Amino acid sequence: MKATPKSKIRDLYDSTADSYARMMDTEIDLPLYSDVLGRLAERITAIRGPVLDTSCGSGHMLFRYREQYDPERSVVGVDLSPRMVSLARRKLGSQAEILVGDMRDLGRIETASSAAVLSFFALHHLDPADIVLALEEWRRILRAGGQLVLATWEGTGAIDYGGDSDVVALRYREREIRDWVGAAGFSVSRCVVEPVEGFPMDAVYLEGTQE
Ligand SMILES: C[S@@+](CC[C@H](N)C(=O)[O-])C[C@H]1O[C@@H](n2cnc3c(N)ncnc32)[C@H](O)[C@@H]1O
Repeated sequence: MKATPKSKIRDLYDSTADSYARMMDTEIDLPLYSDVLGRLAERITAIRGPVLDTSCGSGHMLFRYREQYDPERSVVGVDLSPRMVSLARRKLGSQAEILVGDMRDLGRIETASSAAVLSFFALHHLDPADIVLALEEWRRILRAGGQLVLATWEGTGAIDYGGDSDVVALRYREREIRDWVGAAGFSVSRCVVEPVEGFPMDAVYLEGTQE
């Protein structure tokens, strides 16, 4: 089974970005976000460079991180969907750099420049070979000791989008994610599988260090 190609994923998020952003206005208060963002701020106190969200959506995670945990740090967002990017720009203001782009190819970001990379609930749009490419790209842009924080849907097979949607998005086992992250040159410091409030699937949450 192959994940739906990116042109269709871009259209999907362009058409749902506004309702997604409204949902995130409340979702961002869930403990899963404060938990990972608070820990991230502590882990990068000694590392220079921005926090880069590789699929920033409406920008809520970067906004919360900057406002609540690390106001002096610059933040950079990348997303495939131009509508998501425009919402994130509006939310984060001119201090943040928000780019339309693909998480697998962050060519505009310098090698060894970033303190941290975030990837929340977007890897399900990639096939395994593309996840490996993305992880290698994230390792490239991180400084030594830089942090990776990711969350993705756990399990096997396709995610049911309901209705008559023909979008194919994929779940991966914790073991697969952990192995790909390790093979890309990260040491894994935390990897847990937990339920997500309001969703019928578990998620894997992983934190790693660029070695
Ligand atoms: C479910 S949303 C999650 C957004 C955000 N990370 C969050 O947790 O609120 C998935 C996001 O991934 C983005 N996306 C999908 N494929 C992408 C790709 N290849 N490169 C960059 N962004 C991508 C979509 O446009 C969408 O904004």
